[in-house]
Amino acid sequence: MSTKTRYDFSQIVLHWLIAILIGANYLLGDAMSDAFKALVRSGGTGTIDGGANAHRAIGVAVVVLLLVRVALRVLKGAPAEVPTTKLMQLAAKAGHLALYILMFAVPFSGFLAFNGLSRDLGEVHEVLTNLLMLLAFGHALLAFYHHYILKGGILSRMIPGK
Ligand code: HEM
Ligand code: HEM
Repeated sequence: MSTKTRYDFSQIVLHWLIAILIGANYLLGDAMSDAFKALVRSGGTGTIDGGANAHRAIGVAVVVLLLVRVALRVLKGAPAEVPTTKLMQLAAKAGHLALYILMFAVPFSGFLAFNGLSRDLGEVHEVLTNLLMLLAFGHALLAFYHHYILKGGILSRMIPGK
């Protein structure tokens, strides 16, 4: 069992960097959506603008960083479990796993929609994105609730320190 009290520095940097990139891509979604519709109308012969290009590039960066993050998670593990009921520990694990799965599924579905010029897959991409945002919002709320109301000091696990 782990005796660490926080995630490793590299894991913490990746947690926040990926969160910021996903937020940025959410904001660039409209630009991509407009460019994509025009591209589908032109039968794939048109070009996409800077915002849409950034959306694609950031999505690819997220996947690459996630692969590194998952490898680090396997190699370095996690800090000792937060002291709470077995049920809550299990719920937290399931929530984190769902976040990881969605973080991969969102760019993957976007990639499939874009390359297949498929509006249907575009819809799937949108639904998965909304699910990810909802779950990430719930995750952040629970982290703050845990930190400030239950006073577990949980945020320090995702903040660098000695
Ligand atoms: C971190 C990853 C990503 C996030 C959070 C994200 C988020 C979004 C959002 C919020 C939209 C707008 C949906 C709407 O109109 O309401 C969108 C649209 C779109 N994204 Fe992404 N995206 C990501 C990665 C990618 C990648 C890697 C691609 C591949 C090229 C991609 C391709 C698309 C396409 C084609 C659309 C237009 C879909 C449509 O209008 O039907 N996305 N994305
Ligand atoms: C203000 C926003 C956020 C806060 C305060 C926050 C806080 C935290 C904290 C304290 C942990 C450690 C939990 C524990 O040790 O049990 C954690 C883990 C995690 N967070 Fe966040 N987070 C935020 C945003 C996000 C976002 C946007 C995502 C993904 C879209 C995300 C994905 C994850 C994942 C997957 C883990 C599990 C890490 C692992 O065990 O490998 N977080 N977060």
